[in-house]
Amino acid sequence: MANEKKPFFSHETLEKNIGLLIIASIVVVMFAGLVQIVPLFFQHSTTEPAPGVKPYQPLELIGRDLYIREGCVGCHSQQVRMLRAEVQRYGPYSVAGESVFDHPFLWGSKRTGPDLARIGGRYSDEWHRIHLRNPRDVVPESNMPNYPWLAKNTVQGLNVQERMVALRKLGVPYTDEQIEQAPEALVGKTEEDAVVAYLQSLGVGVRNAAMQRQAAIANDKKAEN
Ligand code: HEC
Repeated sequence: MANEKKPFFSHETLEKNIGLLIIASIVVVMFAGLVQIVPLFFQHSTTEPAPGVKPYQPLELIGRDLYIREGCVGCHSQQVRMLRAEVQRYGPYSVAGESVFDHPFLWGSKRTGPDLARIGGRYSDEWHRIHLRNPRDVVPESNMPNYPWLAKNTVQGLNVQERMVALRKLGVPYTDEQIEQAPEALVGKTEEDAVVAYLQSLGVGVRNAAMQRQAAIANDKKAEN
């Protein structure tokens, strides 16, 4: 036995050497991670906008930044999961192609309040204004904070054009014309106008596209019968 030639590398060597086993396990896990992650950078479903998804209008874009500034994302997610209860409550579940124009994305991980991914069009602008100034005026048991300053501050002087240019570098297809005209869209607007515009834009395109798809399927069925 003593003079039996040991192979240069055997499973036994790996199993008996804890350091080597740890390193080898890390290499395997890293490779497996790459196999999962790398294709996502090239798949259309994660890099192309989902049907109905459009870049934010200038006022909505400012609203989105205010949403980040005010920490709304700390209490509200924007991600409808593929669970029946969630789809029934909020609407179509979220897909990766919805977030292609979101830099950074605001999926969130905490739901003190409801998910907002499909909030657009659910309430009137006026409801949102009352709710943002004092949530308890419309939802008595609410523990959401008041945001009264949003209605008092104007959005004048916020560098919307620079924001759009930066987003364009990240792949959001704003045209020169849109960027040039952006400041006009903000004239006389308050921060509250911007946040409401942003909220009213959330999920609208996706919901409309989903409704159109359903209508098309129903039509096809009718044609078959
Ligand atoms: C401390 C946690 C908290 C923060 C921060 C917070 N919210 Fe809320 N939000 C809630 C809770 C709780 C509710 C549910 C009760 C209600 O409607 O007020 C809610 C409800 C809402 C609703 C209505 C959702 C629905 O489906 O009825 C909207 C819209 C909303 N919040 C927007 C915002 C915005 C915009 C901000 C930031 C300016 C914000 N929230 C910050 C806790 C929070």
